[in-house]
Amino acid sequence: MTILAFESSCDETSVAIVRDGHDILANLISSQVAIHAPYGGVVPEIASRQHMRVIAQMTTDALQQANCTMADIDAVAVTAAPGLIGALLVGVNFAKTLAYKYNKLLVAVHHLKGHIAAGRLADPSLNYPFLALAVSGGHTLLLHAETPTTTHILGSTKDDAVGEAFDKIARVLGLGYPGGPAIEKAAQQATDNTPAFALPIPRLDGLDMSFSGIKTAFINEIHRRTQRGLPIDAPAFAHTFQTHVVALLVGKMGDAYAQTGLKRWLLCGGVAANKLLRQQLSAAANDCGCTLSVPPLALCGDNAAMIAAAAFDQLAAGHTHGNDLNARATLPVDSRIM
Ligand code: KG4
Ligand code: ZN
Repeated sequence: MTILAFESSCDETSVAIVRDGHDILANLISSQVAIHAPYGGVVPEIASRQHMRVIAQMTTDALQQANCTMADIDAVAVTAAPGLIGALLVGVNFAKTLAYKYNKLLVAVHHLKGHIAAGRLADPSLNYPFLALAVSGGHTLLLHAETPTTTHILGSTKDDAVGEAFDKIARVLGLGYPGGPAIEKAAQQATDNTPAFALPIPRLDGLDMSFSGIKTAFINEIHRRTQRGLPIDAPAFAHTFQTHVVALLVGKMGDAYAQTGLKRWLLCGGVAANKLLRQQLSAAANDCGCTLSVPPLALCGDNAAMIAAAAFDQLAAGHTHGNDLNARATLPVDSRIM
């Protein structure tokens, strides 16, 4: 089973060809970071137009790299939700047109299901069920991945996603976009481990999370210092923020383990690229006799190989879509795309 997959939900266009759910023949990613950087964040219409510009040529290139023609492709998969609606529509419409023209099966994938599928794509020993911490620019979720197609939400952020908080804090520190890698880099230059100031610990029941109070406290501290003419040490501030947020995420994963007893853990999504988070979560897993899988960097950020991997599981469960498929800007991860 060879799947041609598309991902265009935000600011990366990606086209992949994956055989039998694990063999990556091509996984091309075109990042729009340089295009959006002057604006300090993703401009939705520019993102859609850039996806339009590159998607056809990237498909030709992916087929060539995989040494395939459309005759070798069994199914076309695409991220249909959630994401920027205009950006999603480009991928969905292109995928639908190809499936229609070449009479292929069409599979619509939830973006977060793709990030989860990246876990098994990178580590086939990650058997279901497992506990997943999915952290990206749009989501922060603790999940019980029961089977490839059944996911239960254990907890989620009540406000900002953790990646979004990294992006906003980087912006106020003048570190640029995307904020996650910028904060990580700045934090490495901090001269000591002492917090620059105290950040609040959100008080939420159960496994839910919140990052907007931390973000506001951070911004208030910057304003306070600016008004008083006090210096703002960007590396120390970045270090303080990163350490605090990572500790909260690791603590929540520990709570989720205490609640579920699931010993296999997955860290996925764009923020899973963060080294401190990888290290601290790995140490926490070791401490309680659990195993942690983290995809390599290329499979943490948005990519179409993970969409193909999720589509492979959906096809095995008989979930395909018709040519009336539409994109959706929002959709909970535990609901099926109809
Ligand atoms: O999964 P992803 O590529 O796109 C979404 O689905 O949102 O995640 C992008 C997010 C951005 O907020 C970015 O700042 C964050 O992941 N990110 C990081 C790092 N690399 C990317 N956050 C913290 N540390 C990093 N090294
Ligand atoms: Zn993502």
